Amino acid sequence: TTVSLIGAPTDVGASVLGASMGPDALRIAGIARALLDLGLQVQDSGNLHGPGNPQAAPQDGFRHLQEVAHWNRTVFEATAAALARGELPLMMGGDHCLAIGSISAVAAHCRARGQRLKVLWFDAHADANTPETSPSGNIHGMPVACLLGHGPHALSQLAGSAALAAGEIALIGVRSVDAVEKRFVAEHGIEVYDMRTIDERGMRAVMQAALAGVDEGTHLHVSFDMDAMDPSVAPGVGTDVRGGLTYRETQLCMEMLADSGRLGSADLVELNPALDVRNQTAELAVDLLESLFGKSTLMRVR
Ligand code: ARG
Ligand code: MN
Ligand code: MN
Ligand code: MN
Repeated sequence: TTVSLIGAPTDVGASVLGASMGPDALRIAGIARALLDLGLQVQDSGNLHGPGNPQAAPQDGFRHLQEVAHWNRTVFEATAAALARGELPLMMGGDHCLAIGSISAVAAHCRARGQRLKVLWFDAHADANTPETSPSGNIHGMPVACLLGHGPHALSQLAGSAALAAGEIALIGVRSVDAVEKRFVAEHGIEVYDMRTIDERGMRAVMQAALAGVDEGTHLHVSFDMDAMDPSVAPGVGTDVRGGLTYRETQLCMEMLADSGRLGSADLVELNPALDVRNQTAELAVDLLESLFGKSTLMRVR
């Protein structure tokens, strides 16, 4: 496999600045070398380009809609091009609004080939706000709703129609959902493994449930928001929420995902080097990505 590293250096979807430095922090933490050492081929085409962050107030419920739409079109094109070349795109954010572009491209790719798709969305948040329900207007709080077809045309129809059906996504690690956002999650019947579920059932059972139905014909997309993890191990994020995933829980997730053999694309987002401590959150992300791409302690028979 050739992994295509796609840097998307922007924080236009967030109100805390700094996620724009995420791609370089991952490079400095050795993302390319780590994947090469696993025997993968790595293509780092550098960073995408796009508009700066205007730091403007919300308009009609959105902050920076034009800029977010522009960045997502660019991410969509880059992701679609990598998939068309047969590569495995790894989108390095950037804030989580960028997953609208990457996942829309993945969805269009799967639809064109009659492939099933499952998106596993690791996050402290549900990211399922709409401009009507968002307390902030920050579009990184809205990508799940956009991917399910709710939101402005420029964000909800990148794949031609809604990118995902509710059954094609599962949220894992959730512990902060806004009051009205809860209604959207419930009404759409979105599969959610919140922290309480993880506490009660354990990560192994949760991952088995989340991966149920993922078969040889399924494309698995992992959208990993670093704030899914506990801030004690991942301080370099803009919207931290205590009570998150531990290092061990997350490693188990990544190893089970690797064992599925179905990983087709991924996002690593919301890494904020401006808030990090000696790049430790970027180094953590590289550890997790190594496991996601198949690093294991012992030889394992699939
Ligand atoms: N729910 C909050 C909002 O809508 C926070 C969203 C945080 N999202 C993220 N991708 N970190 O503003
Ligand atoms: Mn998120
Ligand atoms: Mn989040
Ligand atoms: Mn709907």
